[in-house]
Amino acid sequence: MSPQSIGVVMNGVTGRMGYRQHLVRSVLAINEQGGVTLADGGRVLLRPVLVGRSAEKLERLAGEHGIADWTTDLDTALADDANLIYFDAQVTQARVKAVLAAIEAGKHIYAEKPTAETHGDALALAEAAAARGVKNGVVQDKLFLPGLLKLKRLIDGGFFGRILSVRGEFGYWVFEGDWQDAQRPSWNYRTEDGGGIVLDMFPHWAYVLENLFGRVTSVYAQAVTHIPERVDERGESYRATADDAAYGVFELEGGIVAQINSSWSVRVNRDELVEFQVDGTHGSAVAGLRNCRIQHRATTPKPVWNPDLPATARFRDGWQEVPDNAEFDNGFKIQWELFVRHVVEDAPFPYDFASGARGVRLAELGLRSSAEGRRLPVEP
Ligand SMILES: NC(=O)c1ccc[n+]([C@@H]2O[C@H](COP(=O)([O-])OP(=O)(O)OC[C@H]3O[C@@H](n4cnc5c(N)ncnc54)[C@H](O)[C@@H]3O)[C@@H](O)[C@H]2O)c1
Repeated sequence: MSPQSIGVVMNGVTGRMGYRQHLVRSVLAINEQGGVTLADGGRVLLRPVLVGRSAEKLERLAGEHGIADWTTDLDTALADDANLIYFDAQVTQARVKAVLAAIEAGKHIYAEKPTAETHGDALALAEAAAARGVKNGVVQDKLFLPGLLKLKRLIDGGFFGRILSVRGEFGYWVFEGDWQDAQRPSWNYRTEDGGGIVLDMFPHWAYVLENLFGRVTSVYAQAVTHIPERVDERGESYRATADDAAYGVFELEGGIVAQINSSWSVRVNRDELVEFQVDGTHGSAVAGLRNCRIQHRATTPKPVWNPDLPATARFRDGWQEVPDNAEFDNGFKIQWELFVRHVVEDAPFPYDFASGARGVRLAELGLRSSAEGRRLPVEP
């Protein structure tokens, strides 16, 4: 059976995520491996059509990767019936307008998170996609990280007994841009440009918590701007109007309490840039991007609080590494393959615009909770 080829309009491929994770590590990597394998053994190749604002950048990118199709005119790309999928990794603020145009054109939609800046807009996208009958998906890459896959394996195997709490620590120091360049785009630090760590990270926490532990039933957050002034890509100083750290407490279905710190103003004293500690009656685990360590109740030490004596136990030594027991592929690529199979052969794909909208809602409620200084319920 010769592989079929489908056109994928890719908007925002000159950006960090669009280029590295989606174009190079997913779409081009899929073609290099011979396509997406379908249930009947057939294969699907992806023909990227690059869309963006700068002809110069697109032409260079296309040339570097031997890609035939690029355009600065989204409507032209959407008008071509051979293009079945529209993918969006633009800055968040540009997403809704472009996605609505693609839905209108009858394309199946795959998009970066957050799907919109407001819950109202995110729901409107979900409704428009449903009304037009197009398939829709949102990037939820953290679910496919090796560390979190191992954590999920532990949960499914009943390792924890009753899960009590989740403690997440995400972040690293993002340089202010004055004496060392910032390692993230400056729009992330301006609310008026769709920035802010709550809008960026709470959508991730919503699907991580929901898929592993249970839906969020309430949120309390304190969002802060620790660094009020930064220097942008052109070397000009600007006011950082968006939150660069958020300290959140989330109650989950079943009574689990999750507490997650998200910060671009923290120095890393952990093994990985994100880590989740899960404590249960029978055991605990600490999962990061790649690794996962556990401590069973039977090997749990019994410390006694006595500040007069030096610590006798080396607590970190009492944890055991969870083996891979599998080969882990790039998470973005795995999710692309799932979405392509969803489009072509109607395979299940639970990461739809409705779940994306729940992520945006959690961000919106987190910011409101912070502004009002109180815990807010999250409706089922
Ligand atoms: N899944 C993840 O882990 C993850 C990580 C980082 C970012 N993201 C999301 O991906 C999206 C892109 O983030 P990024 O870090 O790649 O950003 P980026 O600034 O590197 O790239 C943004 C892209 O959007 C394009 N663009 C379109 N309209 C624009 C405008 N008006 N102003 C500026 N750029 C415009 C740019 O040309 C560029 O191609 C965001 O929505 C972000 O929330 C997701």
